[in-house]
Amino acid sequence: ELKENTTIVVLGASGDLAKKKTFPALFGLFRNKFLPQDIKIIGYARTKMDHAEYLKRVRSYIKTPTKEVEEQLDQFCSICTYLSGQYDQDEPFQKLDEAIRDIEKSRKEGNRVFYMALPPSVFIPVSEHLKRNCYPDKGIARIIIEKPFGKDLDSSRKLQKALEPDWKEEEIFRIDHYLGKEMVKNLLILRFGNEFLGATWNRNHIDSVQITFKEPFGTEGRGGYFDEFGIIRDVMQNHLLQVLTLLAMERPISFSAEDIRDEKVRVLRGIPKIEPKNVIIGQYGKSLDGTKPAYKEDDTVPKDSRCPTFCAMVAFIKNERWDGVPFILKAGKALNEQKTEIRIQFKDVTSGIFKDIPRNELVIRIQPNESVYLKMNSKLPGLSMQTVVTELDLTYRRRFSDLKIPEAYESLILDAMKGDHSNFVRDDELDASWRIFSPLLHYLDDKKEIVPMEYPYGSRGPAVLDDFTASYGYKFSDAGGYSWNTASTPNKL
Ligand code: BG6
Repeated sequence: ELKENTTIVVLGASGDLAKKKTFPALFGLFRNKFLPQDIKIIGYARTKMDHAEYLKRVRSYIKTPTKEVEEQLDQFCSICTYLSGQYDQDEPFQKLDEAIRDIEKSRKEGNRVFYMALPPSVFIPVSEHLKRNCYPDKGIARIIIEKPFGKDLDSSRKLQKALEPDWKEEEIFRIDHYLGKEMVKNLLILRFGNEFLGATWNRNHIDSVQITFKEPFGTEGRGGYFDEFGIIRDVMQNHLLQVLTLLAMERPISFSAEDIRDEKVRVLRGIPKIEPKNVIIGQYGKSLDGTKPAYKEDDTVPKDSRCPTFCAMVAFIKNERWDGVPFILKAGKALNEQKTEIRIQFKDVTSGIFKDIPRNELVIRIQPNESVYLKMNSKLPGLSMQTVVTELDLTYRRRFSDLKIPEAYESLILDAMKGDHSNFVRDDELDASWRIFSPLLHYLDDKKEIVPMEYPYGSRGPAVLDDFTASYGYKFSDAGGYSWNTASTPNKL
């Protein structure tokens, strides 16, 4: 339930995340009246600026397509204030506490949500100073934190240990923003709310599962951060693994946060560490026409960087449901298109009456253009018995044309405000996920002779990619030139 008497503090209010995600989401919730009536938002960061300058910034973060939205933004600005201060001194945090108390004077309780939109280097000091100086004495405390949650199992545990004395697990909301995406939130409903899917959801019927993340832009401007992390830590260990987990977990006992997360942890524990032999890595070079720069041309990237900007890897799950089924995760920057999707390829139908009939595929498009479609064989209408590949198609913008799909961050901030942990990462879940990736990450970091394969900016990735997926049994079929929704989606991944 949503708590009245709440103050939200956005730490790192002048940073990139706050600008791109946190403030637009807070505004989206505010203008649609999802935040409590009396909500107040305090920004905190190192940058010194006065109130007017701050509001100017907040405004610049938010698009106002109509007069109405502009007026709503004026109202939003009237609940926003700002305080500047260092991240490692008590005094400014005491000031922050006073500012919150001031708001709480007229309130019967004082609930506080601390949103840490901060670089990892100041994470721990801020958490400690908040606890020491700003912990509520007559209300609920919640702390929202963002990845990176460490760089491997050890550093993730260290971070966890540093938070532990100050915050109870129920006070911590670890964001993986993929869990706020509409289609990701739909996965458990699709699987467990449809008998025909549930019945075929196993190794007897499914041949392979692919989860693909593609972005058409490079790391321009973010090279400094990215080079330290690479694509595996940036999106695979978190976003893609979350999707895999939701696809593979067993039916939870209920939709309560702990029941869901218990099952997530259980399936993660059944995944052995990723073997280097099941991995390919790439790094983008210049685009073929020479207009787009290579990864290493970024000034903030070392000239000899071996950082992967592309990776394809295969995870297996050692349980009765999934043993032997490859889960192929692919992620890359500077590719030919933007797309995140799940492709579940079913097994061949019994041979005999058909020759080379394509496999069924269930495709779940997470973004853009949310949709679920099942590629299936049908008789081509007419006098012959010719078959054709067609699809059962649920495309959101057609079927739900008058509904707005919320932004992931809107959905997650609202959940955190309500105290619902279902779509946040639990500590043991984080641990289990790092365990799967850490040995591979260390192997790639340490083995200097392993150099990522170069692929051109704007291409589909390293040239070996199709052979790689084929080697795990994936059968590509262009079945008479089949293509779903030709305008926006080439058939080939
Ligand atoms: C972030 C990564 O977590 O997710 C970025 O750090 C990536 O590198 C982003 O671009 C992708 O998120 P979305 O919502 O745009 O798919």
